[in-house]
Amino acid sequence: MKNNENKLSMDTLASLCKRRGFIFQSSEIYGGINGFWDYGPLGCELKRNVRETWWKNIVQNRENVVGLDASIIMHPKVWEASGHVGGFQDPMQTCQICKKHLRADQVWEGIKESAWFGSLVRAIEGVPDTNEVTFTGPSLLRWAIRDGKKLAPGLALVRNPQVTLSWLAEKANTTDTVNISCIDLIRHVATEQLAQTGLQTPCPHCGGPLTEPRQFNLMFETYVGAIKSEDHKTYLRPETAQGIFAQFGNVLATSRQKIPFGIAQIGKAFRNEINPRNYTFRSREFEQMELEFFVKPGTDQQWHEYWVEERMKWYQSIGLPAESLQKYVYKKEELAHYASACVDIMYNFPFGMQELEGIAARGDFDLSRHQQFSGKSMEYFNQETNEKFVPHVVEPSAGVDRIVLALLCNAYKEEWLGKDNQVLPAEPGKQPPEGFEARTVMRFHPKIAPVKVAVFPLLKNKPELVEKARGVFDTLQKWYPSFWDVAGAIGRRYRRQDEIGTPFCVTIDFDTLTNNTVTIRERDSMKQERIEISKLADKIHETLA
Ligand code: GAP
Repeated sequence: MKNNENKLSMDTLASLCKRRGFIFQSSEIYGGINGFWDYGPLGCELKRNVRETWWKNIVQNRENVVGLDASIIMHPKVWEASGHVGGFQDPMQTCQICKKHLRADQVWEGIKESAWFGSLVRAIEGVPDTNEVTFTGPSLLRWAIRDGKKLAPGLALVRNPQVTLSWLAEKANTTDTVNISCIDLIRHVATEQLAQTGLQTPCPHCGGPLTEPRQFNLMFETYVGAIKSEDHKTYLRPETAQGIFAQFGNVLATSRQKIPFGIAQIGKAFRNEINPRNYTFRSREFEQMELEFFVKPGTDQQWHEYWVEERMKWYQSIGLPAESLQKYVYKKEELAHYASACVDIMYNFPFGMQELEGIAARGDFDLSRHQQFSGKSMEYFNQETNEKFVPHVVEPSAGVDRIVLALLCNAYKEEWLGKDNQVLPAEPGKQPPEGFEARTVMRFHPKIAPVKVAVFPLLKNKPELVEKARGVFDTLQKWYPSFWDVAGAIGRRYRRQDEIGTPFCVTIDFDTLTNNTVTIRERDSMKQERIEISKLADKIHETLA
């Protein structure tokens, strides 16, 4: 179901994903584990298709990019050289009442999304994003002893209304109406007394006081071997990129590549995120597809522009519409000190425009650091020009899980379907009109759809139909992930395939037995066509380009 703004709710999507076997909560039988997800039978096909189209586009279809599959656990020095041991940190705050941990830079975002903030703003008839909210002491008190008690028991105004209100009044020099910004109001009602440190920012979950921010390293630590000591400590990789930099010399020596050339890798990465959120969007275990493209110093900008455009084209080729994508170009002051450019490719998720991939021109930072820490040369020697240099790198770095989530959000459609296949957009919360039925359809691009074709014998109790259909299924299955379904009316079988995004359904009927033709039905147009069995594979193949 989509909400009033016709935005897909993530709960609706998560429920379909669970019901049809795309995504499950990890360790669900034990209550789940926050920030970890499992991909079910359809989800892992979808994910494989994303990986495979990327690999084909980035590695197999280019002469100057080669692949690598590095280990997840590497020498701890790798992470010292890369800067992750010292610098891969987020500021964290902990609520002193509910004990939840929060990323300090996301606290206000959390407050604005919280039930108690909405309720408080409604109670005082404020407008959240204006700088002036008008309220009275009694209206705040009324809210505190009713809704506030349930929604934000940790808020100072709720725990100790008199103290909070009296110092608010003292500040405003009145007991009646006060005009301040909404943010200031929230910080006032979170503060019991004017502490030396000034106004408090409340916990988005319960309204309680937060600790001062402290730095939290996002790398998961582990120990190699039987002894758990500092000497044996290392980390699960927080990005795949460093495996590529560490093997730069070996790949260069064995692949006969010349600058410019790239090394690509797909694999798991792990980050102990403080706040995993938005379904699979920010997880603690996820997969990256990274390319390190090594270039001659001075050509960074031209290659950076090239890769941004290549990557934008790829997203559209897997079915994400141009209008759902955006480029965010980093301003100079937002760039890391060693980077000369960075562009994020963003997708318009139901929860906002968010990053799918970052494409950064990182100079020679990574190779130079590994050269310095390992003592091994990372220089490239150009025999034609007799030049020696540490190559610069352009890095397109994408998250598989985020791309899968974007594809799921983009594909999900609810429609009302009339008898003659007339389609109306479904209206949230309403039943379809007389003569219409609801259909949920995942409009995946055929290239990434987990199942390409479903095969149905018209009737399951006619052995000659079943046998003929089985022959068609066995042939198609050799080429494409296919689905066999004999249960229920054909219309219901179509609905089941629509819901998992199968682009084609093939029905074998009595005519098939005499003329070797079948009905092929297309998911989006719902058009049906009669074609020869021998032409089926080609027909499906045409759509996968
Ligand atoms: N080597 C560069 C690098 O790792 P990043 O922006 O931190 O850059 C690249 O990560 C991509 O990895 C992101 O654009 C995103 O798609 C994905 N990613 C990062 N953290 C993630 C998380 N916690 N959950 C899911 N995907 C994540």
